[in-house]
Amino acid sequence: MPDRIPLVIDTDPGIDDALAILLALASPEVDLRLVTTVHGNVELEQTTDNALRVLHLAGRSDVPVAAGARASLIHPQPERAGHVHGAAGLGGVQLPPSPASVDPRPAVVALADLLMSSPEPVTVAPIGPLTNIALLLAVYPEAAERIDRLVVMGGSAARGGNVTAAAEFNIWSDPEAAAAVLGSAIPTVLVGLDVTLPTVLTEEGIARFAAAGPIGATAAAILQQYVDHARNAYGVPGVVVHDALALTEAIAPGTLGTVRRDVVVDTTLGAGRGQTLVDQRSVSTSPTAVDVATTVDAGAAVEFLVSRLASLDA
Ligand code: BDR
Ligand code: CA
Repeated sequence: MPDRIPLVIDTDPGIDDALAILLALASPEVDLRLVTTVHGNVELEQTTDNALRVLHLAGRSDVPVAAGARASLIHPQPERAGHVHGAAGLGGVQLPPSPASVDPRPAVVALADLLMSSPEPVTVAPIGPLTNIALLLAVYPEAAERIDRLVVMGGSAARGGNVTAAAEFNIWSDPEAAAAVLGSAIPTVLVGLDVTLPTVLTEEGIARFAAAGPIGATAAAILQQYVDHARNAYGVPGVVVHDALALTEAIAPGTLGTVRRDVVVDTTLGAGRGQTLVDQRSVSTSPTAVDVATTVDAGAAVEFLVSRLASLDA
């Protein structure tokens, strides 16, 4: 095993994506080798610029950022999440521009290059729509096979949806891509609403890293709009930790309790579009089964996140 787990984050920043990137940078167990961006919470140009700026905030503009898909695979899904994340994706906070430029390679090429050249197995954490990963599977299947573990934020087994009654945002944004990825034989952990909704970062926790220094204070400022949204949408006094919980599992494998299940994504155009149908009748032994996260120690996960974010200013 390498000293540190090589890691790629595929992301659509996004307030909680920003938090997830910062968590990875604060974690010595992982070596963030590449960030790929995708359409999602806001348009691709914005998610890409946001990724560059978040890395720069943490003094890590050396991490390459490659831009990926600007739209879903088949059915256009123009609805963004500006009402959650702010029109520019980072809760109305204008971060300083990065001195780095976007990597000239398309995201799938950058991903394939990294996977084919890494001597160690690479963890990939997709925390946005799964378009880039589906394209990787289609264009570079031999590279996709070298993924050690996909840790996906998306879906829901028993909690319904958050963007429709049935669907979670990342899966709903590109159901055909999600179907291809979750139907593949790549070892996959699905970190869905069942474990993210109970994981709430309170204003007290945010205040702890806000007090640690300028990086923590900026992260707290980015989160403010998300706190307001969570209070209104979910009735909780803090931030629902979606993407950073997936990163926690990527950083510390086994953090979440999982059960191996067959998962089908609803790709019809009806009311169920984007739903993850998790077959709970039995544990699956199929090679395409997914490790569905079912249990979380939410207090421990939040404490991990808060202490790691505070450490960025140490
Ligand atoms: C997911 O949707 C996005 O808005 C968040 O960034 C997260 O990845 C939660 O459903
Ligand atoms: Ca996201």
